[in-house]
Amino acid sequence: MNAQEFTKRRKHLMELMGPDSVAILPAAPQRMRNRDTEFHYRQDSDFYYLTGFPEPEAVVVLVPGREHGEYILFCRENDLDMEVWNGPRAGQEGAVERYKADDSFPIDDIDDILPGLLENKERVFYTMGASPDFDQRLIGWVNRLRKQSRAGIHTPGEFVSLEHHLHDMRLYKSSQEIKAMRRAAQISARAHIRAMQSCKPGLYEYQIEAELLHTFMQQGARFPAYPSIVGGGANGCILHYIENYSTLNDGDLLLIDAGAEYDYYAADISRTFPVNGKYSKAQRTLYDIVLEAQYAAIEQVKPGNHWNDPHEAAVKVLTQGLKDVGILKGGLKKLLEDQAYKPYYMHRTGHWLGMDVHDVGDYKVDTEWRVLEPGMTLTIEPGLYISARHSEVAKKWHNIGIRIEDDVLVTKEGCEVLTRDVPKDPDEIEALMTE
Ligand code: GLY
Ligand code: MN
Ligand code: MN
Repeated sequence: MNAQEFTKRRKHLMELMGPDSVAILPAAPQRMRNRDTEFHYRQDSDFYYLTGFPEPEAVVVLVPGREHGEYILFCRENDLDMEVWNGPRAGQEGAVERYKADDSFPIDDIDDILPGLLENKERVFYTMGASPDFDQRLIGWVNRLRKQSRAGIHTPGEFVSLEHHLHDMRLYKSSQEIKAMRRAAQISARAHIRAMQSCKPGLYEYQIEAELLHTFMQQGARFPAYPSIVGGGANGCILHYIENYSTLNDGDLLLIDAGAEYDYYAADISRTFPVNGKYSKAQRTLYDIVLEAQYAAIEQVKPGNHWNDPHEAAVKVLTQGLKDVGILKGGLKKLLEDQAYKPYYMHRTGHWLGMDVHDVGDYKVDTEWRVLEPGMTLTIEPGLYISARHSEVAKKWHNIGIRIEDDVLVTKEGCEVLTRDVPKDPDEIEALMTE
């Protein structure tokens, strides 16, 4: 992402905010893993989207029309002693030169400076509730202004959630964002291929996770976008299984849901394949149903269709499939009305994808499903999960958990499957695994 991209975003947001307003957004806090050991720092997605600034202990303030500069970045001062331990900081100079802030102040001075930026503004764009500590500080700054009302200072009258405009912007991906997402998708596809090629009975699930991480990092994605799910057999029926601690058994399926984060953008891929390289008859039967549902759902991803069209297409195919194999009984229409598929397909067919794996953006506008438009990116991920607790289902179907998930960009003509490099055709997967 180049500097102009961030400038363009701030400009766009400030146009949406209008005059007499100010936006305030704190950086993500540094989080502790245990005692004095920190997690790797990851900037808050909204903060990064507007600034490209990767450091903690920072606050961005946007003041449309401010004479001395609209974009103010509070951040840590340079501190040579600390920088010996933890690496360089941008400091105020770097904030202006590299991150194009109009003005930058030390974060320790924010109590003195921020109230002045709120003076005589009508509207404050700020998202309450994400950081209770910061909420309190903001209330403190506003109260300080209020005490000066007799000096003719006007306190903002309106607090508006910043998310509304910002998350709508993030829903439409620019060409630079799409480029990053394509790369995240390609890296993740290669990782899934490597996982398929390294799988064999007797390995631990986490050893396959290691293969995924190996490819992510070798290809330039330092972190996964979310903890990888590597679930063999019954574990494939646990939707958010991340223990990855069991051995992989001959005859079981392996469900992998893993994606890399590249330049702050996520990929999110699921594939399900046989541990020993060959689907059993029952596994193949259910797999074919999920794959058909996935194709039917992707078919619905095009401009003008609404958010729920892919889901409706998927549940129709899944329900028909479950009926064909005798797991569901009755007429299709009634089964769909009753959502009879729900015990075996309990999640939705997708979500927005972007800087966050479950990305921001509204799914409904007022009471209507959102209409798909070019530049939106979503996942298509139908599945079927039949575990031993489904005692109403014949035993031969037990411990089969299947999900097939791709990342799809809405284009002018229809859609582009960003994750198409990793096979999902069962014959192709079997061929790849015997190579
Ligand atoms: N990896 C979580 C999901 O597929 O939504
Ligand atoms: Mn996923
Ligand atoms: Mn997903």
